[in-house]
Amino acid sequence: MKILDPRIVREDFPILHRKINGHKLVYLDNAATSQKPKQVIDSIKYFYENINANPLRSVHTLAEKATEVYMDSRKKIAEFLNAEQDEIVFVRNATEAINLVSFSFPFKPGDRVATSYIEHHSNLLPWLELKAAGIKVDVVGVDGNSELDMAYYSKPRKDLRLVAVSQESNVTGTINNVKEIAKDVHKNGSYILIDAAQSAPHMEIDVKDIDADFLVMSGHKMLAPFGIGVLYIKNSVQPIMKPYLRGGEMIKSVKLDKITYESPPQMFEAGTQNISGAYAYGVAVDYLKRIGMRTIQNYEKGITRYLYNEARKIEGIKIYSGKSRQYGSIFSFNVDGLHSHDVAYFLNKKGIAIRSGFHCAQPFIEDKLHIEGTARASTYFYNTKEEIDIFLSELKSIVRKYGRR
Ligand SMILES: Cc1ncc(COP(=O)(O)O)c(C=O)c1O
Repeated sequence: MKILDPRIVREDFPILHRKINGHKLVYLDNAATSQKPKQVIDSIKYFYENINANPLRSVHTLAEKATEVYMDSRKKIAEFLNAEQDEIVFVRNATEAINLVSFSFPFKPGDRVATSYIEHHSNLLPWLELKAAGIKVDVVGVDGNSELDMAYYSKPRKDLRLVAVSQESNVTGTINNVKEIAKDVHKNGSYILIDAAQSAPHMEIDVKDIDADFLVMSGHKMLAPFGIGVLYIKNSVQPIMKPYLRGGEMIKSVKLDKITYESPPQMFEAGTQNISGAYAYGVAVDYLKRIGMRTIQNYEKGITRYLYNEARKIEGIKIYSGKSRQYGSIFSFNVDGLHSHDVAYFLNKKGIAIRSGFHCAQPFIEDKLHIEGTARASTYFYNTKEEIDIFLSELKSIVRKYGRR
C-alpha cells in the first residue's frame, strides 16, 4: 500500500494555505464539506471555457462533448462503486437522493419502513413523513456505544419493505456493518438503502459486495463541488420505481394521452442537470482513486487514533464518539460547562474550523445522548498530525480558561 504524505497533497488545496483570524487555517469540518483540490476547481473553469453546452439534446460539437464528459463521469463514478453505468443517477446531493427513493418506491398503506436513531435528518424525515400515507415507520435503536440494535434487522417482518441506514454516522463516526444488515434485509424480502454520505469520502465501497439496493452520496463531501450527488439504484430494482420529477430529458415519447418514460438513469434525471458539477465530480473521483481509498482510510485511521489517544487524556471534556467497534474520522465532544457553539467560537478565533450543534440529528442528540449538541472535529486525508496537535493544544487552553473546574 502507498504511504500518504499530507504535506504533498495539501499543495493541491489552495484554501488550506489561507489564514483565518491571523492564524493558519486548521480545517476540521470535513464531515460538513470537504475542501476542493485545484484539479477540481480548474475543471469547472475548463468546462465553462471549453465545453459548455446542454448535453443529450443538440447535435453540435459542444453539445456532443458535454454529453461525452457527462457520460464519462457517470462511468467513473460507477467504477468507483463497482456499479454499472446505468445504475448511477445524478442528483443534487444525498438529501435529494433519499427523498427521490421515498417518493418513487412503490409503498402501499400498511407497509413498514425502518430508519434508525443514528441517522442524519436527511435519512429520517423523508421516512417519518410517510406516516401520513399510512406507512408504519420503525426507528431502530442504538445502545450506549452508538451501536445499532442489529437484532431488529435479523427478525423477519412480513410488512417491512425498506430499511434505510447510514454506513457512517455524522455524529459519532460509528461505522455500521451494512453488508450484514443487507443480508438480513434481503432474507426478509425487503430492500435496503445505504446512506454513504459520510463513508464514501473515506473508504472503498463495493455496492455488489454489500448487495445494496440503493446507495446515496454527496459530491461536496468528497472533493467535488456543491450541488452534485449520486443515487445508485441496483438494476434489478429499477423496474419497480416510478419517476420522481417529470419534464424534459426523461421521456422516450410524449402523446397527449400517453407518456413513455426513458429507462433509468435518464428516467430520474428530469430537466437540465448540473453538468459542470457532474464533470467535476468525475475529476474528484479520479483524484481520490489516484491516491487510493485504502491509502486514504489507512492514513486517516492513524491520525484519528492519535487524536483519540491524546484527547482521552484531557480532563474536563466528554467524548461522545469513538465508542463503537468501528468508527471513522469524527470526534464529537463537549467541554464541561460550555455550550458546543462557544467551543467552536473560541477555536475559530485561533483559525480552527469545527462544527457545533445538533449536526442535523436532533432526536439522536436529544433522546439518546441527552444533550443540546456536540462540538465535532472531523478530519480528511489532507489533515496533518501537526494540525491535530494545534487543535488539542487550543482545546486544552479552552478547558483551562473557560471550562468547569
Ligand atoms: C450521514 C449524512 N447523510 C446525509 C447527509 C446530507 O447530505 P447533503 O446535505 O449533502 O444532502 C449528511 C450531511 O451532513 C450526512 O452526514
